[in-house]
Amino acid sequence: MTLKELHEECLKCEKCRLRSGATQVVPGEGAEDASIMFIGEGPGKVEDETGRPFVGPAGRFLDELLKSIGLERSQVFIANMVKCRPPGNRDPQQDEMDACRPWLDKQIELIDPEVIVPLGRFAMYKFLPGTTISKEHGRLYSRGGKTYFVMYHPAVALYKGSMRVTLMEDMANLKKFLDGDLKPVSVEDAVSEIIKEKGDGDERSSNEGKDSQIDMFS
Ligand code: URA
Repeated sequence: MTLKELHEECLKCEKCRLRSGATQVVPGEGAEDASIMFIGEGPGKVEDETGRPFVGPAGRFLDELLKSIGLERSQVFIANMVKCRPPGNRDPQQDEMDACRPWLDKQIELIDPEVIVPLGRFAMYKFLPGTTISKEHGRLYSRGGKTYFVMYHPAVALYKGSMRVTLMEDMANLKKFLDGDLKPVSVEDAVSEIIKEKGDGDERSSNEGKDSQIDMFS
């Protein structure tokens, strides 16, 4: 299956309640062979109207962020956790993300990016469940041949201006990684570190912690 075929199928999707409230499905766009894939939350008003991801105010800031490290939209792939706009821009619900998940998983499989950039906590939970974005933003993790780079959602800078700097600074870490000047931490090493921090000398509880933490980084 090609990405184009996948998106044609996706446009017909009615697997969850979001489709009935949306004007159109927004599968995602960008380079089919992109080495970097950005994953947001879900389409907003402008995306719903145009059928394109990140073309509203948050999208304009994402463009700026890309530009700040010398990238154009056409060089990356941009998708969302859910492909239809949640009514009133509410958060996507878990069952909606679950219903939409196969589309995103197939996009990842077909594009096979080297770097996945979850934008905001909903996308972050998919790759690093159980963690907090305030702690993980700007960090790079590796697992199974892929690198995950966690960022705040660009929309946060729209209602909290000081976050612009944080996002810009975080983005600079992605550039450092692309230039070979910053290495990702392996998820396994990060998990060991968490266990060490939590360690209370109780062998049994730390093993329990290890199992659950490793599951968390799915
Ligand atoms: N916010 C998102 O998460 N995705 C979009 O496509 C636009 C805004």
